[in-house]
Amino acid sequence: MSNPFEAVRVTDHVYWVGAIDWAIRDFHGYSTRRGTTYNAYLILADKITLIDTVKEPFKDEMLARIASVVEPEKIDYVISNHAEMDHSGCLPAVIDLVRPKKVFASKMGVKALGEHFHPSRASGPDDSGHDVVAVADGQKIDLGGMSFSFVETRMCHWPDSMVTYLHEDQVLFSQDGFGMHLATTERFDDEIDDWLLAREAAKYYANILLPLSGFIRKALDKVSSLNLPLAMVAPDHGPIWRKDTAKILGLYARWAEQKPTNKAVVVYDTMWQSTAAMARAIGDGLAAGGASVRLLPLDGNHRSDVATHLLDAGALVVGSPTLNNCLFPTVADCLTYLKGLRRKNLIGAAFGSHGWSGEGARQVHAMLEEMDVAVAAEPLAVRYVPDADALARCRRLGLDLAGKLRQHVAASQ
Ligand code: FEO
Repeated sequence: MSNPFEAVRVTDHVYWVGAIDWAIRDFHGYSTRRGTTYNAYLILADKITLIDTVKEPFKDEMLARIASVVEPEKIDYVISNHAEMDHSGCLPAVIDLVRPKKVFASKMGVKALGEHFHPSRASGPDDSGHDVVAVADGQKIDLGGMSFSFVETRMCHWPDSMVTYLHEDQVLFSQDGFGMHLATTERFDDEIDDWLLAREAAKYYANILLPLSGFIRKALDKVSSLNLPLAMVAPDHGPIWRKDTAKILGLYARWAEQKPTNKAVVVYDTMWQSTAAMARAIGDGLAAGGASVRLLPLDGNHRSDVATHLLDAGALVVGSPTLNNCLFPTVADCLTYLKGLRRKNLIGAAFGSHGWSGEGARQVHAMLEEMDVAVAAEPLAVRYVPDADALARCRRLGLDLAGKLRQHVAASQ
């Protein structure tokens, strides 16, 4: 029977043996509209090394790709750069099948793998008779004539995260870093449209790595200080970067800075179109004041798309009706999500229509303050349907915010 899945040659020694998840549409609350890939890499030399595995349901696809170039049982070593289960989910099964001489992980990775695949579980790496060996930060080892260096990149994405550099082929295996959720049969950046790469890389950073930006900056400095030539950056999701590796590193450096821009994101939901009317008037005022405006109604924009728009914004203006003495559920959902992502250096304001009690705009205002958004105005609340005067106040709020945004951007340069 012919093999339905084949490995993809990356270099003379490296093969992509991952899996394509065309169906996934939600990744921990992040809308993965274009699916994703779980990348694993096989290094063929005098010894055979597997870097990372795939999410458990995709084990057979990965094994089939490996089998297209070498019998899986011939794998000598496994390197686990990251213990999250989209990369380690089938590691216990792979260990049982392959019986590798060693499994390498960071010190925190050994701990994390143990806490995922507990010793009591028969197929866990800890009890299979094969050591999971902790490698030191900066350690260089030779595996079958190939030199690998390990660099700890804690909290990029988890405490265990590390990257592995293959000296002979100048490839950095960067686990989650520089990845994106994009299911394609193309494996390299130069085979995919630049706009799509930019969009999905930004979405990934905004929704996964943004709250870890301080760690990202340190990791970038650390990798840069090693002066490693980077012919390719091979992440665990999405395409391999080979056209211009400096470009994606530069984008990460910019995103990690979180500098504000002249862009204002107005996000809202509405019950009877009153809060929507306020949003449009505020947006018009912002634009008249020179801001670049994005109006994002929550019945048409997923929270993770709002997060992506905020990555290069300078203002967050949020509108909510009042429902049963509370802010609207979709707005609460979005703000809770954004609070966790901790976008810094934003100014903002709250607004909303209500019937009699008016908690919506006030609760949004309080949430913005909890998010460390510099709230630049009192909450603008309107009873029932905004009349011409109320809409004029909304527009003035937009104009005023545009001026404050200009000052905020100038002060941060
Ligand atoms: Fe793709 Fe942090 O796992």
